[in-house]
Amino acid sequence: MNKVNIGNNVFIPMLVVIVGANVEGKANFMAVGWITRVNAQPPMLAIGINKAHYTPLGIRENRTFSVNFPGADMVEKTDYCGIVSGRRTDKSKIFKVFYGETKTAPMIEECPLCMECKVVETVDLPSNTLFIGEIVRAYTDKLFLTDGKPDFKKINPLLFTMPDNSYWAMGEYIAKAWYVGKKFKQKNE
Ligand SMILES: Cc1cc2nc3c(=O)[nH]c(=O)nc-3n(C[C@H](O)[C@H](O)[C@H](O)COP(=O)(O)O)c2cc1C
Repeated sequence: MNKVNIGNNVFIPMLVVIVGANVEGKANFMAVGWITRVNAQPPMLAIGINKAHYTPLGIRENRTFSVNFPGADMVEKTDYCGIVSGRRTDKSKIFKVFYGETKTAPMIEECPLCMECKVVETVDLPSNTLFIGEIVRAYTDKLFLTDGKPDFKKINPLLFTMPDNSYWAMGEYIAKAWYVGKKFKQKNE
């Protein structure tokens, strides 16, 4: 084989979101690339958060957090939330904040897609805590919907790669999932 061994500290392309939590009654926000949906029903997602950060104090305090998807035009404020810590800097006034059913997960009005989550499980990893959250409710604006569903072409989410530490916008449409493979299936059966 001709593959080059590049070690084990490798990263996969990510979405970048802004996670919100109330810490001692005040909204705080951090940038998060380590996020993924992890369960179908009930809908759940998981975020990997370094134990040294300020936001997890609020997640543990209220057992809730929000996941806000910034549009690509929000790159500056998103990056800022990933540079400064709520431990030293008040990040509660960067965005217009609203609350939903959980009452304690601060969401960002400027973000095209926001979700409030309740913590169902925490997994202690060597440097991070994996918070698994059930999505209680999601919010968007009408202009980001197509046939009543969030349209990510319209939302224009921010993508992120490491170790080059670069932000990207979503690329071209390729094919329909659970469909395009059927052609290969037909040829091989
Ligand atoms: C693009 C980007 C993605 C990030 N992803 C994560 C992540 O997935 N997990 C994490 O613990 N920190 C991540 N960080 C770092 C935190 O956002 C950053 O340390 C932040 O200042 C923590 O804020 P806090 O102390 O107010 O919670 C990321 C930073 C950037 C810029």
